[in-house]
Amino acid sequence: MTPIIAPSILSADFARLGENTAKVLADGADWVHFDVMDNHYVPNLTIGPMVLKALRDYGITAPIDVHLMVKPVDRIIPDFAKAGASVISFHPEASEHVDRTIGLIKDSGCQAGLVFNPATPLSWLDHVIDKLDLVLIMSVNPGFGGQKFIPGALDKLREVRRRIDETGRDIRLEIDGGVTADNIGQIAAAGADTFVAGSAIFNAPDYKAVIDAMRRQIG
Ligand code: DX5
Ligand code: ZN
Repeated sequence: MTPIIAPSILSADFARLGENTAKVLADGADWVHFDVMDNHYVPNLTIGPMVLKALRDYGITAPIDVHLMVKPVDRIIPDFAKAGASVISFHPEASEHVDRTIGLIKDSGCQAGLVFNPATPLSWLDHVIDKLDLVLIMSVNPGFGGQKFIPGALDKLREVRRRIDETGRDIRLEIDGGVTADNIGQIAAAGADTFVAGSAIFNAPDYKAVIDAMRRQIG
C-alpha cells in the first residue's frame, strides 16, 4: 500500500492550529493524526469534535485520522463522525464491546482502527481483524508526544503484518510514538505503511525537510 505520513497535531501550536495543519499538508503530509485524550484513560487532556470541525471549516480537506484515547469510547463516536473524521481508532481496553464499537464506527461512515499499547496482546485481533480498516501499534505509552520509541514495537509490527497478509484484505498498519527520520526506515522494513510523527515534524524548523527525509526511507 502507498505509504502515508500522518503528522500528529498534538505537537502543533494549538494557538495556530489551522495554519500549522494547512502548512504541514502543503509540505507533503498525507493525513492529519488527531489525538484525543480525556484525562481518564490517559493522563492528559487535549481536543475534541469541535476542534475537528473547526479544522474542516478552516478548509482542511485531507483525511483526518482520529486516535481516541478516551473511556468510555462509544458515545463520542457519532460526534467525531459528524465533525468530519475519516478514520476512527480506539483502544480495546477502553471499550466494553470491541465488536460493537467497530460496528458503530463503520455505521457512522468512517473507517475503523484498533490500537495496541505496548503491553496490549495481539489476541485482541482474533475474531475482529476482518472488520478492521487499520491496526495501530503504539511504540510509546499513550498520553504525551515527544517520548522515545520502544523497540519491542518492531516485533509486534512483523507479527501484525503477517496476520494482515493472511486476511488478504487492505488493512493499514500504522505506527505511533517516537517516529523520526532516523528510525522510520526500520519501522517500514518491519511492515508499517502508515507513519504518525508529532514532535519530529512540528518541533523542526522546516516541516518539509523532515517529511522529505522520511519519505526517502519508506519509498
Ligand atoms: C501519544 C500520541 C501520539 C503522539 C506522537 O499518545 O498518540 O500520536 O502525538 O508524538 P511523537 O511523534 O512526538 O512521539
Ligand atoms: Zn496518536
